[in-house]
Amino acid sequence: MSGADPAPRLDHHTLERYETAWLGIAVVMTVLLFVGVIASLISGTYPLLSVGTGHAHEGPIVKGRVDPAQLAATPFAKPGLVVDRAGQPVMNDRGTLDAYLVAGGFTFQPAVLRVPAGVPVTLHVTATDVVHGFQVTGTNVNVEILPGHVASLTVTFRHPGEQHVICNEYCGAGHHNMITRFIVEAPTETP
Ligand code: CUA
Repeated sequence: MSGADPAPRLDHHTLERYETAWLGIAVVMTVLLFVGVIASLISGTYPLLSVGTGHAHEGPIVKGRVDPAQLAATPFAKPGLVVDRAGQPVMNDRGTLDAYLVAGGFTFQPAVLRVPAGVPVTLHVTATDVVHGFQVTGTNVNVEILPGHVASLTVTFRHPGEQHVICNEYCGAGHHNMITRFIVEAPTETP
């Protein structure tokens, strides 16, 4: 072999330094990942709720299906929390409250949903026109809403405050304005 310079050779110590550096980076990444997971568990950015699916059998809603043209004959006609004549939320036989939400025309109905903190609420969501998204920001509530289908999920909002709900599936020109709010209210104290 002649002419070309031989490739620079790394000596033993240089190699060791590279190895140590990469090992260090791997250890730092592992620690960061571990700390991140534990921190999210502790801080509550992980499920501040529990999610279950599929319960809607109310009236014309059969096995999570509904005719989008017939919503007037369903509880979706009155979007919001199901309340009695006195305006008090009604507990269903599964021990949760029911709330009906309709996505369509770049809006969610109701515009604002008030729910009590610490009480499981079953959200029933359907769409009138096209596929929409339904994501409660900062939580793991994130479902796809299809016309003709009812997505039902039970959620317990632990802390009073405000939760934003966004559409995260592109649905047309008004997609970016498709947003609603949940106001999570502290349980009212009965005197
Ligand atoms: Cu509705 Cu995007």
